[in-house]
Amino acid sequence: MQQPPLDDIRARFAAAPWEAIAPTSLGVARKVPSMLSETERKLYFWAARDWAQGRGAIVDLGCFAGGSTACLAEGQRQAGHGAPIHGYDRFTATSGVKKRVLQPAGIPPFRGRDILPVAQALLSPWSDRVTLHPGEIEENGWHGGPIEILVLDACKSTEAIDRMSQTFYPALIAGGALVIQQDYFHWRQPWIAAQMERLADHFVPLAPCPDSTMIFFCRKPPDAAALVRAACTRMRDKDLIAGVQSARARLAGFGMTDRFDHMIAAIRANPGQRIAWRFERP
Ligand SMILES: C[S@@+](CC[C@H](N)C(=O)[O-])C[C@H]1O[C@@H](n2cnc3c(N)ncnc32)[C@H](O)[C@@H]1O
Repeated sequence: MQQPPLDDIRARFAAAPWEAIAPTSLGVARKVPSMLSETERKLYFWAARDWAQGRGAIVDLGCFAGGSTACLAEGQRQAGHGAPIHGYDRFTATSGVKKRVLQPAGIPPFRGRDILPVAQALLSPWSDRVTLHPGEIEENGWHGGPIEILVLDACKSTEAIDRMSQTFYPALIAGGALVIQQDYFHWRQPWIAAQMERLADHFVPLAPCPDSTMIFFCRKPPDAAALVRAACTRMRDKDLIAGVQSARARLAGFGMTDRFDHMIAAIRANPGQRIAWRFERP
């Protein structure tokens, strides 16, 4: 199916139509615990309901207990499409995360770290369309054909982002796929902005979505050579900083300059660090 001109797509996203969606439109998906902001949940729902045309899979990398996947699945259900939805996670949670995220959402306390049964139960309203892939995303791979929406919320190290992009980006639908970078503006993960700059010929920035998301349109999927050139594991700190500075300039119109400044300060305060959770606040 033909997509409208890029300027029309940009204008559509600039209007942030997901913001006007009533939370009740998400139905039971609202009840599935999530680490996302309410606006991000509405974005996921909107993307699956109003952007996707059912031309390819919806892939959620880092779905935790299923909150993000539920929003995508409910949006797709309401649109009447049937493309497969794939949720990837190691499906484990510490006792702190269980207390902070699961119990307030009504999940009774349980023993152990395994949350796969919880996610399966929470996603049961959409079990006809959702397949879960427990384990390390980097080791699970992709064998599912074209991808129309790719959500990334697990690029917590340079090694992870390189392996995930090499696995999933080549399957993106040219001139049709959305890439939703959940942690794009997170100061602990500056490699996401740096990598997207090196892939600027392939992805068009469309809109930010608070708290930390940036949405991109896939003009053409990167091939293996482009992904090698964009690899983050080989970037020195000065390359990372240059990448973030480039993103700061290119995305200036989105009003997120302070978030890029925070990333640059974080790189300077954490020399050589490439794992998000080890970053110290600058
Ligand atoms: C911020 S949480 C995701 C939140 C989720 N989208 C939601 O709606 O609540 C990030 C998730 O990514 C998962 N994750 C991070 N790195 C991973 C990896 N390399 N392989 C598998 N899962 C990973 C974590 O287990 C965690 O559940």
